[in-house]
Amino acid sequence: MLKIDTHAHILPAEWPDLAAKYGDDRFPVMTRSDGRHRIYKDGKFFREVWQSAFDAGYRIDDYARHGVDVQVVSTVPVMFSYWARPHQALELHRHLNDHTAGICRDHPRHYAGIGTVPLQSPRLAIEEMERCTEQLGLQGVQIGSHVDDWNLDAAELFPFFEAAADLGAAILVHPWDMMGTNTMPKYWLPWLVGMPAEQSRAACALIFGGVLERLPSLRVAFAHGGGSFPFTIGRIEHGFKMRPDLVATDNARNPREYFPRLFFDSCVHDPQALRYLLDVVGHDRVMLGTDYPFPLGEQEPGSGIEALDLDENDRARLFHGSALEWLALPLSRFTKES
Ligand code: CO
Repeated sequence: MLKIDTHAHILPAEWPDLAAKYGDDRFPVMTRSDGRHRIYKDGKFFREVWQSAFDAGYRIDDYARHGVDVQVVSTVPVMFSYWARPHQALELHRHLNDHTAGICRDHPRHYAGIGTVPLQSPRLAIEEMERCTEQLGLQGVQIGSHVDDWNLDAAELFPFFEAAADLGAAILVHPWDMMGTNTMPKYWLPWLVGMPAEQSRAACALIFGGVLERLPSLRVAFAHGGGSFPFTIGRIEHGFKMRPDLVATDNARNPREYFPRLFFDSCVHDPQALRYLLDVVGHDRVMLGTDYPFPLGEQEPGSGIEALDLDENDRARLFHGSALEWLALPLSRFTKES
């Protein structure tokens, strides 16, 4: 059965050193020494990456060990750089998008890609999204769970979502710049507590702000199973009903009604949580996502879905049906001999 991983990150082996070029060490920088690749940000060591982060051929073989055929690759959120001057950030985004598109062109049966855009300038973001989908052959763009001080319902961002709907660009919402980072520095809490909350923040903003209501054709997927959003939908719905004066100010529709048109990846690390996710959002809304190649990702791609003992229809839906619908791609894109 064709298996498509919708949440996989890739980096170029190198990219322009914008920290040096613009004298701003907030830009992530890749260093190579002793055969090791390390990313620095804010002048500090951020993360080491290995072949699995940038070697397209190595990744295909690694996935094949688990019977997964296709990776829908996106950049690593530390690269978003929404805080930067727009044209400086655009330089980085263009480099990343060209790299992603090159890999998809070289390995069309194993890779599809979604780009990245400088959302701090919605105008430049729209232009780069158009380049991604119309010139580079990418299927959409990955965006952060918020953009500096803007949540995703910010009026400034609406033209971007409108353009995505017009272009038919798939949107992947990924947590980044986690809330609470400064007040919970220990125990990796921004990743363990902040990330799920960021996803709920993004979903609530898109729903309560009326973005999804106004753009019924917009195709949005949430990484990490939507974080805490599906698990706390009862509370969110209760708040919507009990305090409409606070919650339903910009959209009168019940938030639960949006599940049938959203997508969620399967990266929840717990068979009971995945079962719950399927029950609450619908079996046709969930698609394989692993967060490859990082330690907090699913270490055996596809194992979480396999553990559920689903029937063949559901397996097909989770392993590729929903992904193809989200990406607006035909099955033949990955099965035809080229
Ligand atoms: Co991720």
